Amino acid sequence: MRLCIPGMMMSAQALLQKNPEPTDGEIRDALRTNLCRCGTHMRILLAIRRAGQLMKSAAVEQMERAG
Ligand code: FES
Repeated sequence: MRLCIPGMMMSAQALLQKNPEPTDGEIRDALRTNLCRCGTHMRILLAIRRAGQLMKSAAVEQMERAG
């Protein structure tokens, strides 16, 4: 069991390294072992989705620069 934002960050990073474009269901599944009572799950879900998009864009830019 992981707690609060640090646990969410660890779970999100592990998920996005494997899958930079997770579905909402995949995100929820990845976070299921995190304990959260503040009710920010929807914002966390949006942030993880956005982080995945940014990571993918950065990877594409890096590949384009490398030729
Ligand atoms: S993220 Fe900390 S309690 Fe919800």
